[in-house]
Amino acid sequence: MRIDIITIFRDYFAPLDLSLMGKAQQRELLTIGVHDLRSWTHDRHNTVDDTPSGGGPGMVMLPEPWNEALTSVTSGASSADEASGADAGGVPTAEVPRLIVPTPSGAVFTQRDAERLAREPWLVFACGRYEGIDARFAEEAATRMPVEELSIGDYVLAGGEVATLVMIEAIARLLPGVLGNSESAVQDSFAEGAMSHLVEGPVYTKPPVWRGREVPPVLLSGHHGAIDRWRRDEALRKTVRNRPELLRGHASEDLDARDREVLAEEGWPSSSVDMAD
Ligand code: ADE
Repeated sequence: MRIDIITIFRDYFAPLDLSLMGKAQQRELLTIGVHDLRSWTHDRHNTVDDTPSGGGPGMVMLPEPWNEALTSVTSGASSADEASGADAGGVPTAEVPRLIVPTPSGAVFTQRDAERLAREPWLVFACGRYEGIDARFAEEAATRMPVEELSIGDYVLAGGEVATLVMIEAIARLLPGVLGNSESAVQDSFAEGAMSHLVEGPVYTKPPVWRGREVPPVLLSGHHGAIDRWRRDEALRKTVRNRPELLRGHASEDLDARDREVLAEEGWPSSSVDMAD
C-alpha cells in the first residue's frame, strides 16, 4: 500500500518510522510519503490560510495550495520533501488514490473502515488545521477521485495530523504480513466476525501468581474449548460494563444459551438484546 500525507507539520509523522509501521516500511509492505503543503504556496510568507467567509473566529485553509499539492502528489511528480527517506514520490502504485480528509465533522472511523481502507492500494490524507479547509477543495477533488471525510471520535483535535496517525496505524496493521502470526488481528476487539460486537476480555502472562493474584486457572488448564468459552464470557462481561451500546441492537441469534446466562449474571436484561427479525 502507498500512503501520502499532506500537512504543514511533517514532524508529526516521525512515529511512522518506529515499531510496526517502521518495519512495514522497511519491508516495503507500506510506502509513506509526507509532503509539506507550504511547498505549494507562491508568496513570501508561504500563506496557507485566510479569514472565514461570512466572518467568525479562526482561520480557514486556502483551497489553492491544497489543490496544487494534491495534483502534484497524485500525478507522481511530487517534488515535496518525503519523510524517512522512503521514495514515495515516484511512480504511483495505482492510478487514482482515495482522498481521506480527517475532520471532527466526518463520519466516525471504525474498525470496519480500517478493514475496508486496508484493501485500497493508495490513500492520500489531507491534514487540515485551524477551522478546516475551504469546502471547495474536497468538492473539486471529488471530481477526480473518491473523497471521504472521517472523524476519529467526538472530540476536537488541533488538526488532522493525530487523527491521520491513528487511522494509518489502524489500517496498516491489517495489511498482509505486517502483523506476525503470533499477533493475529483476528481476536481484536471489534474484529470482523462473530465477536465484532464485543471488546476483548482481560489478558494475563507470567508469573501464574503475582502479589497473591492468580492467573485464572482455566487459562493454565490446556483445555482449548474451555479457554475459548472463558474468553467469550469475559468479553461479554467487559462489553456490558464498558460498552453496553455495542450489545444493544445486536441481533440475538448470535447469542447462545451460555452467553445469555453470562449477560443475566451481569444484570443485562435479555429484552435489551434486539430481537430484530
Ligand atoms: N481534526 C480535529 N478533530 C478531529 C477528529 N476528532 N477526527 C478527525 N480529524 C480531526
